[in-house]
Amino acid sequence: TAGSAMSSKFFLMALAIFFSFAQVVIEANSWWSLGMNNPVQMSEVYIIGAQPLCSQLAGLSQGQKKLCHLYQDHMQYIGEGAKTGIKECQYQFRHRRWNCSTVDNTSVFGRVMQIGSRETAFTYAVSAAGVVNAMSRACREGELSTCGCSRAARPKDLPRDWLWGGCGDNIDYGYRFAKEFVDARERERIHAKGSYESARILMNLHNNEAGRRTVYNLADVACKCHGVSGSCSLKTCWLQLADFRKVGDALKEKYDSAAAMRLNSRGKLVQVNSRFNSPTTQDLVYIDPSPDYCVRNESTGSLGTQGRLCNKTSEGMDGCELMCCGRGYDQFKTVQTERCHCKFHWCCYVKCKKCTEIVDQFVCK
Ligand SMILES: *[C@@H]1O[C@H](CO)[C@@H](O)[C@H](O)[C@H]1NC(C)=O
Ligand SMILES: *[C@@H]1O[C@H](CO)[C@@H](O)[C@H](O)[C@H]1NC(C)=O
Ligand SMILES: *[C@@H]1O[C@H](CO)[C@@H](O)[C@H](O)[C@H]1NC(C)=O
Ligand SMILES: *[C@@H]1O[C@H](CO)[C@@H](O)[C@H](O)[C@H]1NC(C)=O
Repeated sequence: TAGSAMSSKFFLMALAIFFSFAQVVIEANSWWSLGMNNPVQMSEVYIIGAQPLCSQLAGLSQGQKKLCHLYQDHMQYIGEGAKTGIKECQYQFRHRRWNCSTVDNTSVFGRVMQIGSRETAFTYAVSAAGVVNAMSRACREGELSTCGCSRAARPKDLPRDWLWGGCGDNIDYGYRFAKEFVDARERERIHAKGSYESARILMNLHNNEAGRRTVYNLADVACKCHGVSGSCSLKTCWLQLADFRKVGDALKEKYDSAAAMRLNSRGKLVQVNSRFNSPTTQDLVYIDPSPDYCVRNESTGSLGTQGRLCNKTSEGMDGCELMCCGRGYDQFKTVQTERCHCKFHWCCYVKCKKCTEIVDQFVCK
């Protein structure tokens, strides 16, 4: 209808303005900015705006724009994948000095990503993983014109009388498309052999791959029972993505054991400490030490921990001592409302009361 065409057009313009503004702020990884938009609106825009839109998405590299033209219906899921990755990053780092905060809605992760630190490594891996996840599921749900249910071969160890062939998440397709799209930007970057830039490209490509493989490796067989009620005499099985939290947990462990790398004379990344085993394609790698996340610093992009909540009794990273970097903390009281005295009523609902409690909170100086 004319009305909705008008509003779509308006939204298209708004989005174009958003992206051209974003271009100024965003550096290496602007495709992440696709995760900052409402996916429902995104899909609407891609359906109408098709051709002109891909070139207006200033966040994308040349190769990514080409993929956008060819696979318009995929773009919404790139955005969803980025969003899932960002959210998981913020969950995994919620108790850390660097909390994966999106600095503002345009720069997504801000300048901190210009440093090849282990935090940057994690961010690349988890967002690449998010895209594999979103794409694989979109295929299974029939949302994309170029893929459908998984065609993975029947696992050899599946009991013979179980059926293979439910509609599974298409992780092969998700992996391949995510690789092409996410890595495109790195592959296009112009760099001199042996330069810092070339080391960053190798680092980013390695961590993107680690993220994608983590999704791939954690995917598993899921089955459903059939047969006379509860007998489970017949089973149908298919390939299924792991819960994304598991992917986040696995990548967090890899973050903790990430390998420090340097360029060798042949332009390859090698481990700084040669006594350790070389990192595999599933490990995270970094080339720079982390910046100081304690204090705000415009040049590194660190936000500092002033104003962060901390736990007075914890001795971990969320404890006030470590979180506030020894600067101390302020204490104040807040009112917390909780559901309490819940009662089950026949049938079937639960009724609760609201209890308020005054709790102490601690905030870094
Ligand atoms: C960023 O977010 C704020 C508040 O959510 C909003 O007012 C502002 O317009 C946004 N900026 C852009 C460029 O979208
Ligand atoms: C910000 O970080 C840079 C690079 O680490 C450092 O040289 C500078 O002293 C820092 N500035 C402040 C105000 O801490
Ligand atoms: C993350 O840290 C920043 C800077 O210290 C803070 O402004 C923001 O509220 C934090 N975000 C969350 C979710 O705790
Ligand atoms: C603070 O840390 C302690 C010890 O780790 C823990 O038992 C407690 O639940 C934490 N409190 C909050 C509010 O997270």
